[in-house]
Amino acid sequence: MCGIMGYVGPRQASPILMQGLQRLEYRGYDSAGIAVSDGGQMNVRKAAGKLEKLAALVNEMQPAGNLGIGHTRWATHGPPTDVNAHPHADPSDEFAVVHNGIIENFHQLKGELVAADKTFASDTDTELLVHLIADEYDGDLAAAVRKAVARATGAYALVAVTVHEPETLVAVRMISPLVVGIGDGEMYLASGIPALLDHTRKVVVLEDDEMASLTPAGLTLETLAGETIERDPIDIDWNVEQAEKGGYPHFMLKEIFEQPQVAADCMLGRLEGSAVTLEDVAWPTGFAENIDKVWITACGTAFHAGLSGKELFEGLLRLPTEAGYAHELRYRNPIVDPGSLTVALSQSGETADTLAAARLLQERGSRLLAITNVVGSALTHYADDVIYTRAGPEIAVASTKAYLAMLISQYLLALDLGHRRGSLYEPQALEVGAALAKLPGQLEELLKREDGVEDVAQLLAGHDDIYFIGRGLDYAVATEGSLKLKEISYLHSEAMPAGELKHGTLALITEGTPVVVVNTQQHVYDKTTSALQEVKARGAEVIGVAYDDDTEIEAYTDHLLRIPRTLDLLSPVLSIVPLQLLAYHVAEHRGLDIDQPRNLAKSVTVE
Ligand code: AGP
Repeated sequence: MCGIMGYVGPRQASPILMQGLQRLEYRGYDSAGIAVSDGGQMNVRKAAGKLEKLAALVNEMQPAGNLGIGHTRWATHGPPTDVNAHPHADPSDEFAVVHNGIIENFHQLKGELVAADKTFASDTDTELLVHLIADEYDGDLAAAVRKAVARATGAYALVAVTVHEPETLVAVRMISPLVVGIGDGEMYLASGIPALLDHTRKVVVLEDDEMASLTPAGLTLETLAGETIERDPIDIDWNVEQAEKGGYPHFMLKEIFEQPQVAADCMLGRLEGSAVTLEDVAWPTGFAENIDKVWITACGTAFHAGLSGKELFEGLLRLPTEAGYAHELRYRNPIVDPGSLTVALSQSGETADTLAAARLLQERGSRLLAITNVVGSALTHYADDVIYTRAGPEIAVASTKAYLAMLISQYLLALDLGHRRGSLYEPQALEVGAALAKLPGQLEELLKREDGVEDVAQLLAGHDDIYFIGRGLDYAVATEGSLKLKEISYLHSEAMPAGELKHGTLALITEGTPVVVVNTQQHVYDKTTSALQEVKARGAEVIGVAYDDDTEIEAYTDHLLRIPRTLDLLSPVLSIVPLQLLAYHVAEHRGLDIDQPRNLAKSVTVE
């Protein structure tokens, strides 16, 4: 959850590092720093706070040098202070390190170093790495890094430089992401592809337990055990615009408005009538036909997408399905059999808990299918099958387009499994396929209806507690609507199944309490309407999310957010959109930092 940037080449490193860090701020933004070497000196600048604090410092006196590393931090060990910001240098200022992740045996190693009279300036686990590297250095930085990381356990990525080798960057990936960018006589390193796109489209994605040595002349890739690795670069076709705001005031809004395209891209070449082709899914003979249980695991928004998946696999495929938060599942003792399928959802593919839960289920015999947005992410390394969501880089911390793409990926998976298992009538499958194909156009149309949402947002912005209710798929959407609102508006909100209200929460509904109800599922429509009447009777201000042609709901609601009619099964793809916009506009009314909400980071790569 930190961002790393590195450069070596003929140009001044500092502006390149700063530009890269700007693109990586979504990975962490409580402090930042750079270290630049001109061969004779290691110039370190760092500052707590947002990147502009560092930029001001760097602008006062640009550190000169053609080799450098940079870092934007989300604190794990030690508070976000100047001294805890990365890079960390050794006491002689000859070595510097940036690091993303956690060194698990930090206390033991630090104890050993302190016993050996080493002094520490910061509270971080990173600083011990620079001590270890400096200690091990004997004229070969790569060898010193290899020896140092052999002593450290954990999940991390690190990059080291030394004034003694002014043309070398050495990087190690142990679970946390690192990507090498290949330029013309210059090389780059970053935690994410967006940071490289201003310079190159040729990238090499590092895998776990790999070490990269970069010089202006090229890349040497090895395993940590020292075996040479040959890997061709891949060409990235994202354009720079995709990684920027594209004229919107916030990445979140831009990403919400990208959803029609995202929906289309996700289905492109994969859906033909009712037939589905999933290019990175290769079921062993007979496996799909005989799956006896589906496990869904994820965190946060991805988990909420998984709640819809659970309804889908049970309802459409009649497959027993359990959705479990990854952070809970990883510490349970789940009963898993080899005929089961695990669906792990993660936008980043790097969420530590999701990785751990997915691997636990896999180790116990389940086949692991990853639904993720990031090619080459850790989850994809472990997965047996992958569905890439193709949502493109998602920069706003609050996930929107990635959620929508996860939903659509699950529909594709359900259609594929339905065919293979014979659990779908062809007319039914064709109906679902046709309705899916209509979604990009419906999303486009829906996004032109922003005005009504803004009025409701103004109303909600003045309240402290907001409730979201629904049943079945509508409940799954309510959970995500509630999370979107709370994470960027800092208002308290809670989602619950509509039937649960009267078992306690109804006591909190008083005159004017806003209750958002999602009501699209015909088979429980009347039941949800009863819950609405209950809250209305207590004076609630009811905001309904309903189909365009639902007139009945008008009697029970004060405000309506309308969506185009689709199959009830597919309604989450549409009903989430007004709720994303609602959250966005409430946060806007409250004047908050929409793309980088307090205390949160885009990917949570530690427990
Ligand atoms: C949602 O807006 C948050 N960004 C968060 O809940 C996120 O969905 C969660 O941390 C999981 O991330 P992942 O999809 O990258 O695994």
